[in-house]
Amino acid sequence: MSLSVVILAAGKGTRMKSALPKVLHPIAGKPMVQHIIDTVTALGAQQINLVYGHGAEQLQSALAHNKVNWCHQAEQLGTGHAVQQAVPHVNDNDDVLVLVGDAPLIKQQTLRKLLDVKAQADIALLTVEAQDPTGMGRIIRENGNVTAIVEHKDATDAQRDIKEINTGIMVMSGADLKRWVSQLENNNAQQEYYLVDVIGMAAKEGKQIQTAKAQSEVEVEGVNNRVQLARLERAYQLEQAQRLMLEGATLADPARVDIRGNVSTGQDVFIDVNVIMEGKVTLGNNVVIGPNCLLIDCDIADNTRIEANSVVQEAKVAENCTVGPYARLRPGAVLGKGAKVGNFVEMKKSTLGEGSKANHFTYLGDTIVGKGVNIGAGTITCNYDGVNKSQTIIGDGAFIGSNSSLVAPVNIGNNATIGAGSTIAKDVPEENLAVARGKQILKSSWKRPTKK
Ligand code: UD1
Ligand code: CA
Repeated sequence: MSLSVVILAAGKGTRMKSALPKVLHPIAGKPMVQHIIDTVTALGAQQINLVYGHGAEQLQSALAHNKVNWCHQAEQLGTGHAVQQAVPHVNDNDDVLVLVGDAPLIKQQTLRKLLDVKAQADIALLTVEAQDPTGMGRIIRENGNVTAIVEHKDATDAQRDIKEINTGIMVMSGADLKRWVSQLENNNAQQEYYLVDVIGMAAKEGKQIQTAKAQSEVEVEGVNNRVQLARLERAYQLEQAQRLMLEGATLADPARVDIRGNVSTGQDVFIDVNVIMEGKVTLGNNVVIGPNCLLIDCDIADNTRIEANSVVQEAKVAENCTVGPYARLRPGAVLGKGAKVGNFVEMKKSTLGEGSKANHFTYLGDTIVGKGVNIGAGTITCNYDGVNKSQTIIGDGAFIGSNSSLVAPVNIGNNATIGAGSTIAKDVPEENLAVARGKQILKSSWKRPTKK
């Protein structure tokens, strides 16, 4: 049997007070609805139908890389009406999993459990015990069996005492879903076509309705405003932090690390406060990340330290390196084993070979530095002539004196030495000393000007 998914995301999200459609607001840097798409894709969904209403252009461009059926709901006449827009795409013998687009923390395991329940029943319904069920659909049971869902606004006082609520997530066959949603009516408090009314219809037909429970309320919590968005963000972040700790990283404060992507960590890693990691970040064993670092799509090997206030993006750092404090590794920065990049050093599309050092105030752009090189303080590679980028190559064992400008394209041979303050625009052969700076003038008779 194949799995079809319907994600309801046509609501306006008025309470977000935003020009961005609600389901595009990010949790951990990723749109809420993308979390759901990723989760159901991992679950094995063959087909994803996304019911949308407002902000079509924004949605389609933000979600362009996904394979989804776009189902337009021109007017938001209720969750049942929303599902009606998607049912033409589903096959009768599909299992159809319906989810809401604004509850992004739903877990794959929970959905798996729900599908297992569906395998033994006609309908599987995901419910949760709510501390405060106000506003939610209540699960009505007779002798333990689910017979209906009643929306808060339509519920009697006795029904409002029920704490078990509808999460909005359910599974049934395509044939049943089609039949039931086509019979929905809107004679209720909100004059909407309620998806939940299919439960009552199913009960009347004598269908088997079984439930599964969500792990926690937050897992199924919907976002209506930015206060809830922030709460889910924190819940998500704490979960990520706990995962890293269980993989072997010590976090100075699990509440002060933010993970917006896929981070994997080795053992005995230490991550100090206010570290943000985005995209795919890999940390080897014994890595130390100092406070206030931003790591994006990078690979940090064993025993390397990224010191305070450094930014590392699309870079690869080998074992036993030190980076920072206040370093910036831009895309294409590669550090060999034991290399050192110190404060206020920027690297872009550049390699610093094994054991080489650029410890203070340096820019290396489009540069290949060999092994055992010392790049003196304030060295700048002049890689840009205003139009084109050119390359600088520095051989093994070279020594670049402080405050040198290397005007690319230029080649510094192995073991060459550059005198401090040089502007080097021509190649330097190996083992040579190159000094290219103004000569020092001494005037013993010179007097400082005096105030007139
Ligand atoms: C819905 C459920 C309620 C459940 C709650 C859980 C119904 C009638 N009620 O109520 O039982 O406890 O979710 O959060 O199903 N949407 C559309 N088109 C529409 C209306 C809604 O796409 O015409 C989408 C919204 O964008 C949202 C989702 O459906 O993602 C839920 O809609 P919402 O209005 O928030 O339903 P609730 O009143 O919260
Ligand atoms: Ca809702």
